[in-house]
Amino acid sequence: MSCTVPDPICSDVAVIGGGIIGLSIALEAQRAGHSITLIDPEPATGATFAAAGMLAPISELHYQEEQLLALTLASAARWPEFAARITAETGMDIGFRATPTLMLGADAADRIALEDLQQARLRLGLEATRISIREARTMEPLLAPHISSAHLLTLDHQVDPRLAAAAIQKQLLAVGAEREGRGADEVLIRARARELLHQDPTDTASPVIGVVLDDGREIRAPEVVVANGLGALELGGLPHHLVLPLRPVHGDILRLRVPEHLRPLTTATVRGVVRGLPVYVVPRNDHTVVIGATSREDTNAGASAGGVHQLLRDAQVLLPAVLELELCEVTARARPGTPDNAPLLGRVEAANGTVIPGLLIATGFFRHGVLLAPIAARIITELLAGVRDPAFDHFRPDRFSPARQHQESA
Ligand code: GLY
Repeated sequence: MSCTVPDPICSDVAVIGGGIIGLSIALEAQRAGHSITLIDPEPATGATFAAAGMLAPISELHYQEEQLLALTLASAARWPEFAARITAETGMDIGFRATPTLMLGADAADRIALEDLQQARLRLGLEATRISIREARTMEPLLAPHISSAHLLTLDHQVDPRLAAAAIQKQLLAVGAEREGRGADEVLIRARARELLHQDPTDTASPVIGVVLDDGREIRAPEVVVANGLGALELGGLPHHLVLPLRPVHGDILRLRVPEHLRPLTTATVRGVVRGLPVYVVPRNDHTVVIGATSREDTNAGASAGGVHQLLRDAQVLLPAVLELELCEVTARARPGTPDNAPLLGRVEAANGTVIPGLLIATGFFRHGVLLAPIAARIITELLAGVRDPAFDHFRPDRFSPARQHQESA
């Protein structure tokens, strides 16, 4: 450990935020040899808790998001190895399943919309095959007979984000204990980060040297990663010139148990557009399915009755037996949205163009937190080692800051 102050809460890297992004960064940085302090009052209870865990760069493709697509594809390619390694390390199955995704249209307009998207996919060289309704129903006999179109996406898989988060946390604590002799309450600080600690307390562009917690305790670390999603908006001490344009995009998501006589409800992830609205049904190993997810930009952080109604109504258009399932859980969480739907990821430049030492940002993952976790972890760990890949400059966290935009337009 590079810490020199006589403070027990001290490590090479402090990660603020214990969602799937913060956890994965902490894990990868720990594997690279750094000692880690992870700061979160309740790890994996935010967007990670809600997430369905679709690893779906192809079915999540939206027009004009080619840069983001490169990142999602790169991360999807890392998931099999990422999942296998955490399973080997912890003995925990994290629900990684290389099962395919079926993309369905409900009515004629949905079919046209999905066919347009299919053309865009083919132009980008993405693997997606139009199949007949008969073929789709042979694969998944419980699909509704009257769907209008079907595409098979064999490369869009899934993982269980709750299991993945639990396994990563277990591994972080185990290595912290074995390699560094640190207790669980030193590796994982269950408190809220209040502000960044700067070398010059009067200058938010000076090097970051740690984190102050809500209860006044200080965590010292020469590198601090801000990975607390929307919580970054409340964190003090971020450079004054840094604009993090995060906004909450609420999602309602359901978990349902499939009764024995309907198993499996589906083996593939079923995604659909039903009268213009997206819906997905993700089957789990434990005979539950996850149905999601609405996108609400209202102020209602709790579950929306209208959202739940919409999800059940639309899911049963694709899979009528959905209405016979046991509804076990209704969850609502906010995704950290950004203006271009892409994450804010990397180091930050001060207004004078020099990098601020000790500060890394990893937030704004919007709909893609689970999918992007392995690549985010890699990018941040490489930055910790002083390696910056220009391929990822597009996602730099200060791209919306006026000073940066002036530099780019000059
Ligand atoms: N990635 C799926 C969602 O945000 O609903």
